[in-house]
Amino acid sequence: MSTADANIVGGAHAADFARRSSSSAGYPSGLERVVESTKDGFDGRGAGGLLKWEAEGVTLYCGDSREVLPLIAGVDAVVTDPPYKREFIELYAPVFAACDRAMKESALCVAMCGQAFLPQVVASFPAAWEYIWTGCYMVNGARVPIWPRGISAGWKPLFIYGKGGKKGLKPWKMDVVNPVDGWAEAMSHHEWGQDVGGFAKILLRFDIEGTVLDPFMGSGTTGIACIRTGRKFVGIERDPKHFETAVQRIRVALEECASELPMGGMVGERQQALELEPSQTDNVRISDDAT
Ligand SMILES: C[S@@+](CC[C@H](N)C(=O)[O-])C[C@H]1O[C@@H](n2cnc3c(N)ncnc32)[C@H](O)[C@@H]1O
Repeated sequence: MSTADANIVGGAHAADFARRSSSSAGYPSGLERVVESTKDGFDGRGAGGLLKWEAEGVTLYCGDSREVLPLIAGVDAVVTDPPYKREFIELYAPVFAACDRAMKESALCVAMCGQAFLPQVVASFPAAWEYIWTGCYMVNGARVPIWPRGISAGWKPLFIYGKGGKKGLKPWKMDVVNPVDGWAEAMSHHEWGQDVGGFAKILLRFDIEGTVLDPFMGSGTTGIACIRTGRKFVGIERDPKHFETAVQRIRVALEECASELPMGGMVGERQQALELEPSQTDNVRISDDAT
């Protein structure tokens, strides 16, 4: 990736990032081994002048999802946390439509969304997708004040949709997910950052496997959760500053996981996630409401 190419998408910051990436200068020491042992780095083949970074099981793009998604195919799931403000809601429909084309049949989408514009959010999911459920992601200890509505929000919806007629999530799943790592850590990487442990729980809870796509990657939280739980990841982020943060965090996560057990730091969370699950028969009042 030349400095001139980097300027196409990201301005001075992206150009500087591409220059530093090509030399590995400016990154924490000890990461070069990961760089050398993978296809890591900007390779100049980046889609139409988009920045692209690849490592073992991970492909990251810096660009607008509406432009990048047509290059992607065959993902098993979309797990994402789009921006919630009013001006971003119009992005949802074209991005989810493009995700649909990138998803395998029977793929799942789990989208963590805000509630302020809920009717518009719900209307933006492709009509052909099957609505499965709305999970509850608790924002423990970080209640979010929604000033115009006079609401202190204590949870966020997780919209769960299936492609290709996928209707259910059996075996039984508990629909409440609690974060793990705390908000200070998440928000130190991105002003809207999420919790890696919480996202790993989402992957485990909803049996999401294979290759996961996040078209609104931010600082790479979904990607790190994928690495720590052994999933492949494709991420897209428009802002070069957040893209760089994601690359750096994912580099570290890959190196950490290379020197740990397969489940990396997520063994405890996996147990916790499974403990929260009702067994297939206990505590479940069977209902035909959704049939
Ligand atoms: C809510 S944040 C995601 C935060 C992420 N979950 C994390 O933990 O860091 C949404 C991200 O979407 C990015 N974004 C907005 N519009 C985009 C677009 N058209 N294509 C790609 N990314 C976009 C924003 O720059 C922002 O970083």
